[in-house]
Amino acid sequence: MRRDVIPSPNIWKYPDVYEIENLGVDPGGLIEQTMRGVHDWSEQVVLDIGCGSGFHLSRFAEAAARVIGVEPHPPLLRRAQRRAAELGPTVTVLRGTAQSLPLPSSSVDVAHARWAYFFGPGCEPGLTELSRVMRRGGTAFVVDNDATRSTFGGWFRRALPSYDAAAVERFWARNGWHRRQLDIAWVQPDRASFEAVVRIEFAPDAADVILAEHPGTTVDYAVNLFWRTF
Ligand SMILES: C[S@@+](CC[C@H](N)C(=O)[O-])C[C@H]1O[C@@H](n2cnc3c(N)ncnc32)[C@H](O)[C@@H]1O
Repeated sequence: MRRDVIPSPNIWKYPDVYEIENLGVDPGGLIEQTMRGVHDWSEQVVLDIGCGSGFHLSRFAEAAARVIGVEPHPPLLRRAQRRAAELGPTVTVLRGTAQSLPLPSSSVDVAHARWAYFFGPGCEPGLTELSRVMRRGGTAFVVDNDATRSTFGGWFRRALPSYDAAAVERFWARNGWHRRQLDIAWVQPDRASFEAVVRIEFAPDAADVILAEHPGTTVDYAVNLFWRTF
């Protein structure tokens, strides 16, 4: 594995369960609605960095002039490319990383990275690369967990006690990014799906505790939407 690629065991090992997870994240569409309020991508060029299996490409393709997904992990790259082929000629998926985007300078209007590479301190090479590819007036968005709030945030803190949410927030502010705190939900169609998704997100012991204490098929989930206009 290349050192510049961050392992994502959830989607790498269980892409079909991750698909179920994606289907149940933010069913109200608050994340895209908020992004669009900041920068509407109609007729624009959208880049999805670390696009995984390409789940979000169709959402951008509905209005964008062109959508480009970038993904380093070959099996996911192939999944995303199959998906892009079904979406038509305006959607392309390329192999690459956030630190080395296979795109010309000043070619992107809206960039989106969801739970991918841009996790705070350490992602400076990707920020430099974003500065290169973004057009003047373009906006880059990062979607990540807000570990300070919500039931899911509590699970995340318990699983990763060394995670320093305040340091992550300071990192984005220092780099000139804005933040909107969003309250979304994670809604699964049945308990079996809920359990499967919890088990790909948490280690077995942590998942056992979560599933013992949390009934049902849904959980409240706080996320941070960070963005910067270039
Ligand atoms: C948790 S998944 C999220 C996938 C997708 N954004 C989604 O929401 O469905 C993280 C993705 O980032 C990719 N990734 C890992 N290292 C990366 C890097 N250096 N640059 C870009 N993407 C990376 C992984 O291969 C994986 O597909």
